[in-house]
Amino acid sequence: MQHKKPSILIRNARIVNRGRITEADVYIRDGFIEKVAGSISGSADVEIDAAGNFLMPGIIDDQVHFREPGLTHKADIRSEARAAVAGGVTSFMEMPNTKPPALTQALLEDKYQIAAQGSPANYSFYMGASNDNLAEVLKTDPRTVCGIKAFMGSSTGNMLVDDPRTLEQLFANAPMLIATHCEDEATVRANEAAYRERYGEAVPIKYHPLIRSTEACLKSSTLAVELAKKHNTRLHILHISTRDELLLFSNALPLEQKRITAEVCVHHLYFNSLRYADLGAQIKCNPAIKDAFHQEALLPALLDDRLDVVATDHAPHTWEEKQNTYFSAPSGLPLVQHTLNVMLGFYQQGRISLEKIVEKMCHSPAICFQIDRRGYAEEGYWADLVVLDPEAEWTVSKSNIHYKCGWSPFEGQRFKGQVKSTIVSGLLAYHNGRFDENVRGERLVFNRK
Ligand code: DOR
Repeated sequence: MQHKKPSILIRNARIVNRGRITEADVYIRDGFIEKVAGSISGSADVEIDAAGNFLMPGIIDDQVHFREPGLTHKADIRSEARAAVAGGVTSFMEMPNTKPPALTQALLEDKYQIAAQGSPANYSFYMGASNDNLAEVLKTDPRTVCGIKAFMGSSTGNMLVDDPRTLEQLFANAPMLIATHCEDEATVRANEAAYRERYGEAVPIKYHPLIRSTEACLKSSTLAVELAKKHNTRLHILHISTRDELLLFSNALPLEQKRITAEVCVHHLYFNSLRYADLGAQIKCNPAIKDAFHQEALLPALLDDRLDVVATDHAPHTWEEKQNTYFSAPSGLPLVQHTLNVMLGFYQQGRISLEKIVEKMCHSPAICFQIDRRGYAEEGYWADLVVLDPEAEWTVSKSNIHYKCGWSPFEGQRFKGQVKSTIVSGLLAYHNGRFDENVRGERLVFNRK
């Protein structure tokens, strides 16, 4: 039986929500925000004085890889969900390229069971599409599963969907949002062959963005958009990494009405190809981190709403795996604990407002996926909240990294701004550097027919 949750009263918060910052108290009862008011009298089971701090809705990360089942030497749902919560992420949507991949309804449900046992954050798991599981994909329940994931270019794990007839059927019949990884496979393969011929296995890492090229991204994203327009599919293209692809997206309609939306990831906003020199394969990921010409176009496109959400594509691999030569070093980097700090860095440089960060990391994912009562610090919503001290400074080090893989591309970096408290579905999951190990998040629910 569900125990009644302790009530929480947050006083003196500067609440960042719906484009405004207002000072108020917040009263939370039984998982939900019951009252937001200038001053709330009375007491609660737990009281937090947020004076001097911001209070924002918890971040909803619509793209993470938590590696369970089957790849738990890299990460597991519990380890990475703890890291998420420490970084202010209260809900995650996890990708199907686990082992085995989530290609049947039964395998998908197994992941929900694992999360129910151990995840301190709210969770949802994508159903995986392949060239031969369409009937199974079409059984996915739009109200309890975030979306269908189609790798229209192969990456970690073998989940490529490249059969044109399958793609056509998928886009024509999907009962819900399709999220795509877009890199044209033939283009990538041809580039790989050319560089292999020249350098063998040890291709210098700086060529990664030329192998996983701009052309590969554009070709595949263009195909996805064409298919979506033809079939009126609800398409969400993941991790846009090039200036060229921005032509495919529009800000003409409000997000609620868009049928085609796009995600940008913090690493594509933050890094560019110059960093292969010092970080090497640590920042090898797919799509590749490109040069500054592409990087510099992404933040403006986020600000003017051609790009809709910010996510991480958190994709941990072990340090040892990352030490391999080019073709053997796996793609992906761990990010979910540090995503808010990356965005706060842009805020501190005057390049984005706090309100816009909250829009793109909290409100917009909730709108895009039609998540039931999450993503806002408002009465009637689930209490997914983050108390943020904007002045606290800290340095990323092995001792404060919560990822199972134990490393971060930000090691040694000093960040300004620190998560003080994270409340997940009305439970204080993280407070002053400590986890409540008993907290479990909820399965996300979607307001779809
Ligand atoms: O770099 C990446 N790593 N891109 C992906 O699409 C998959 C991910 C992973 O699972 O490692």
